[in-house]
Amino acid sequence: MDALVQFTNQSQGKDRIFRATQYACALSVYLLRSSDRRDVAAKLKSLENSMSTGRKLLRLGNTVNAIDAAKRTVRLSDRVLCLCLTLANANRALYFICDNLLWARSVGLIRHVDKERLNLNASRFYFYSLVMNLTRDLYAVLQLMMQKGRDAHLKEKMDRHLNESPEVAEVIVPQLDAFVFLLIESLKSHPAVALDTVKNICDLFIPLDKLGFYKSNAGVTGFCGLMSSLISILTLARPGLRLKP
Ligand SMILES: *[C@@H]1O[C@H](CO)[C@@H](O)[C@H](O)[C@H]1NC(C)=O
Repeated sequence: MDALVQFTNQSQGKDRIFRATQYACALSVYLLRSSDRRDVAAKLKSLENSMSTGRKLLRLGNTVNAIDAAKRTVRLSDRVLCLCLTLANANRALYFICDNLLWARSVGLIRHVDKERLNLNASRFYFYSLVMNLTRDLYAVLQLMMQKGRDAHLKEKMDRHLNESPEVAEVIVPQLDAFVFLLIESLKSHPAVALDTVKNICDLFIPLDKLGFYKSNAGVTGFCGLMSSLISILTLARPGLRLKP
């Protein structure tokens, strides 16, 4: 089992590159939709499909990986982090179970499963996992802002900022201005939190569209998927930019 976990961890980079390619193709197909380059669009569409199928195979070990992660996060001493991350990982594990069954069905290993329902459940679990991840991001941001709010040095800077632009402070409520100032300072000092939040928001558009909560189009989901994959690749290449635990 440990070897499997280790192997799937190692294949994360490959999966991210395939995912970036998959969504880049989806976005290009969308952008080419009204031009007469139908041949190119058809090739890109088939590349997109093979990336998606290839990734399903790479994801076979991910259920074990997600359960393993959940076992680790359940021991976190911070109650909020423990709850958010364990629920996120549990939902991720359920998502991968659906995903693996879909793969098994697509290669003919199993037959008697309802593909539509599995697809819907996969999107649902993925969505819950993202919502828990975003709750955790919000918690991290609020913690940072409270920390910054107590920082005397930053308070001085904030007062100066509010005095320098009194028109802004008058038009917009001063509290709101101070809030935005603190928010920006917090995100600037911890880019890992900012990146994780942007990544999770981008990812959210995909299940929102599939579940019909918010219908966007193939262009939006392609763009968001590409953005989130690129951020993932960045955080794999630069572990300092990854949000921990
Ligand atoms: C939620 O966050 C965890 C830890 O950062 C990550 O491993 C997981 O992939 C995220 N879930 C989704 C659905 O992106």
